[in-house]
Amino acid sequence: MMMDRRRFIGLSAALAAAPLATSCGGYDKIPAQDVPRSDFDEDSTAEAVTEGIDLTGKIAVVTGCTSGIGFETMRVLALRGAWVIGTSRSLERARDACRQVRGKTTPLQLELADFDSVVRCAETIRALNSPVDILVLNAGYWGGGNDRELIDGVEKHFRINHLGHFVLVNRLLDRLFFAWQGRIVVVASRAAYRAAPDSGIRFDDLTLEPDYSDSLAYGHSKLANVLFSLELGKLLRGTRITSNALHPGLINTEIDRNVNRLLQFGFGVLAALRGKSVEAGAATSCFVATSPLLGSTSGRYFEDCNAIEVRESHLQDMAMADRLWVVSEEMTRDYLVKHERPDWNEFENGLRKTGKGGA
Ligand SMILES: NC(=O)c1ccc[n+]([C@@H]2O[C@H](COP(=O)([O-])OP(=O)(O)OC[C@H]3O[C@@H](n4cnc5c(N)ncnc54)[C@H](OP(=O)(O)O)[C@@H]3O)[C@@H](O)[C@H]2O)c1
Repeated sequence: MMMDRRRFIGLSAALAAAPLATSCGGYDKIPAQDVPRSDFDEDSTAEAVTEGIDLTGKIAVVTGCTSGIGFETMRVLALRGAWVIGTSRSLERARDACRQVRGKTTPLQLELADFDSVVRCAETIRALNSPVDILVLNAGYWGGGNDRELIDGVEKHFRINHLGHFVLVNRLLDRLFFAWQGRIVVVASRAAYRAAPDSGIRFDDLTLEPDYSDSLAYGHSKLANVLFSLELGKLLRGTRITSNALHPGLINTEIDRNVNRLLQFGFGVLAALRGKSVEAGAATSCFVATSPLLGSTSGRYFEDCNAIEVRESHLQDMAMADRLWVVSEEMTRDYLVKHERPDWNEFENGLRKTGKGGA
């Protein structure tokens, strides 16, 4: 049967976008052990999963609050009473987004590719002298027209999606520690196992030179997101801070604004056919950020509001996570502050003695 040109282009585009977008593909997913199951699923919305949760008095930071999942996450956390600090590369855009939301919000400028900007943003938050209860690492980049772009020698996706957030967390960690139960929520993607290199993080060439594509680089950076959260979960054991990563679902947002038109078209088609609404797309972020079920769940990976493990992926590879941490520290050394665990433990004991905090 002959296929006309339009259908051929549509099919090619959908195939090109498929590794990032589709749910088919033979990955063996099992519920994560020892994590309470929720009744929520792929259709649950951010409002539904936070129903009845009162975030009054809590401070949340949401990176990338100006569109898509980040905007909806900010909107719903603010609706539930949190004071939400929302970031954008443009302060003006962050202001516009904050204005559209009911509740208390504060716009801040943050360019994750520029570590000086990350430090400035963190310092502004620190100057509030308040605990940070929820830190949603949501901002993300996918694109480049399949032309590899390096910023100070670092591949752009890896720098924005992973290293920028790595510095931000380092700079805000003590503020999370001062919260009754700080939560770090890493918005990764299923691309972490569908589109990342087969061997996982390419420590021998983080710029992915030989076979670079935007989707490979995006998957690589999203695997880095998951492994970062896994390692953080390990390092924060014994504190009340948790760190979890997630895939929000396939949602027709502006995430494809920087990819080529073929990929854009394919992404649009797949999102229209198999995607979620933005309201449902923010559900897993809001669930992981707020659910009382998850007070001591850390280092896990979530899809559709439940923790899963993906067999034959690198998502649970502790050795890779360890190595990524060391390499990321090396790459951002000039922007990091040192944390002394003993001080945290003293603070923890102090809290226990005075009985401060909530349940
Ligand atoms: N949509 C999906 O199907 C899907 C699937 C899996 C994972 N995700 C992940 O979900 C997260 C949210 O994406 P989205 O779909 O809502 O996309 P989006 O609508 O494009 O939102 C991305 C946000 O990130 C911010 N951003 C982009 N580049 C940045 C940079 N260099 N520094 C700081 N902020 C930057 C943007 O803010 P400004 O432009 O205002 O700076 C924007 O608010 C991303 O991490 C994405 O990888 C999305």
